[in-house]
Amino acid sequence: MNLAEDIPFDISPESFGTISRVLKSLKGFNLSCYKDKCIKRRIGIRVRATHCASVEEYCDLLLDSETELELLYKVLTIHVSQFFRNPLIFRKLREEIIPQLIRQCRERDDRELRLWSVGCASGEEPYSLALILREFFSDELHDLKVSILATDVDTGTLQAARTGIYGEDRMAEVSDFLRMRYFTAAGSRYQLRPEVKEMVTFRQSDLFDTVAYPASDLILCRNVLIYFERAQQQKIMKGFADVLEQGGFLVLGKSETLSGPSRELFKTVCATERIYRAI
Ligand SMILES: C[S@@+](CC[C@H](N)C(=O)[O-])C[C@H]1O[C@@H](n2cnc3c(N)ncnc32)[C@H](O)[C@@H]1O
Repeated sequence: MNLAEDIPFDISPESFGTISRVLKSLKGFNLSCYKDKCIKRRIGIRVRATHCASVEEYCDLLLDSETELELLYKVLTIHVSQFFRNPLIFRKLREEIIPQLIRQCRERDDRELRLWSVGCASGEEPYSLALILREFFSDELHDLKVSILATDVDTGTLQAARTGIYGEDRMAEVSDFLRMRYFTAAGSRYQLRPEVKEMVTFRQSDLFDTVAYPASDLILCRNVLIYFERAQQQKIMKGFADVLEQGGFLVLGKSETLSGPSRELFKTVCATERIYRAI
């Protein structure tokens, strides 16, 4: 077995089975839905980091150590994010999509605009939506209820999201103006103000549980689907199409796109920014 960094990581079916069972029974995490190569590479990261001589030795460690289970889970669920990640998407949301959604919402009776950030990691994405709404749509917020639901499978990252404290690495795209208005200094980090934090509801939820999807006007599912097998991606897209209001929007990550049967469920609004609309 080769443990070198840059070579695809090989794991015997027995060891893979052990790791899958531990993750499923103790964390409710279903490895079979994720892309094999990606998962194996990430398990490899932990095998190397723990200096185990083999994957079999790593399995023993995993069965013994809750700490290692948490660390493996963290590596597998990848939490990289940033405020206004891919800023052009957020500009498009502010200038075109949100105004359109507000118009559509006013035409309906319920007057609630429901935004859902899926795989929200530490909250940068839903808080970016909240900042846009607060800064640019304050008048509209008087007679319109807006809910921002943010879900992730990982409770640890959701805890960080609820705290709302961020380092400079997450803040590169936040203008000085927004920093001044909506953040306070927390040592060398930035604490989001309560009035913005309160706009977002965080909830633990697994994307594979499609029956739990909430009715939505806008779904942001960015940089999550890339880790899943094609069949799972299709199931999730179908789930999104089912809960999106008529004329609702779906935004994917920059390296993600509609594929297979999901192309029949949405029409492309902006191919470069990966914005789609439920048909
Ligand atoms: C790379 S982050 C994306 C963060 C944010 N959407 C962005 O684009 O900046 C991927 C997130 O997806 C979450 N995730 C992975 N599998 C998931 C699942 N089955 N259900 C819900 N979230 C999941 C991870 O925990 C992680 O926080």
